[in-house]
Amino acid sequence: MADKQPYLNANFYGPTVPPSSKRHRGRRVLCTILKVAIGFIVGVGIVLLILGVVYRPHKLEFNVTTAKLTQFNITANQLYYNLGLNVTIRNPNSRYRVYYDTNEMVVLYKNRRLNSLSLPAFFQDTKSSAVLSPNKFEGQRLILLAGDEIVEFNSEKAEGQYPIDVKFFFRLRMKSGEVVLKLKPKVHCGLRVPLSNAPKSFVFFPNTACDFQF
Ligand SMILES: *[C@@H]1O[C@H](CO)[C@@H](O)[C@H](O)[C@H]1NC(C)=O
Ligand SMILES: *[C@@H]1O[C@H](CO)[C@@H](O)[C@H](O)[C@H]1NC(C)=O
Repeated sequence: MADKQPYLNANFYGPTVPPSSKRHRGRRVLCTILKVAIGFIVGVGIVLLILGVVYRPHKLEFNVTTAKLTQFNITANQLYYNLGLNVTIRNPNSRYRVYYDTNEMVVLYKNRRLNSLSLPAFFQDTKSSAVLSPNKFEGQRLILLAGDEIVEFNSEKAEGQYPIDVKFFFRLRMKSGEVVLKLKPKVHCGLRVPLSNAPKSFVFFPNTACDFQF
């Protein structure tokens, strides 16, 4: 006995005292509360996840369908341009209607802002398309091309096609019943627009999809 339970020699005074049943019950209650709490948190998490998947909006689809460039020349550091655009916006969502509250459309050439336009606020229903036919962007702008940019411009001129960027800055709301998402998406359309009366004017402008990011 002494071999097996040497520690009993020192302080074994009687049968071991079972832990108080009160303490035991307290621990069990605590355990139950914890289990319920964890279950609740996991449950809420799953519901939120499902809601997140169900209510996650699809990206809006922007396409520049036509681009007509009738003038694009640089004379004495002035860029003369005349650009007409048609843009189709599709709302693929069956849940969300879209309210475009503040809209700006900007045209850039080699990261220089040529022109910008405020579009009127508009509304788009679920699963529908809208066509934007803004006024032509035309005018002139002081442009100082340096080094490589001059080389680039000359080769673009020879090719009769110019890289033009169109960006949209929106503040919009997507609404589905009581759910309202306020978003400021970024839309970028990287275009290559042929000059209408260029030597190679047989080049047509291809429908160009834009990059959309929430
Ligand atoms: C560029 O466009 C302006 C405005 O239309 C015109 O006056 C000028 O002659 C053009 N320059 C060239 C080199 O085509
Ligand atoms: C935009 O679309 C309208 C209607 O189809 C058309 O009349 C117009 O010429 C287009 N604009 C451009 C710049 O192609």
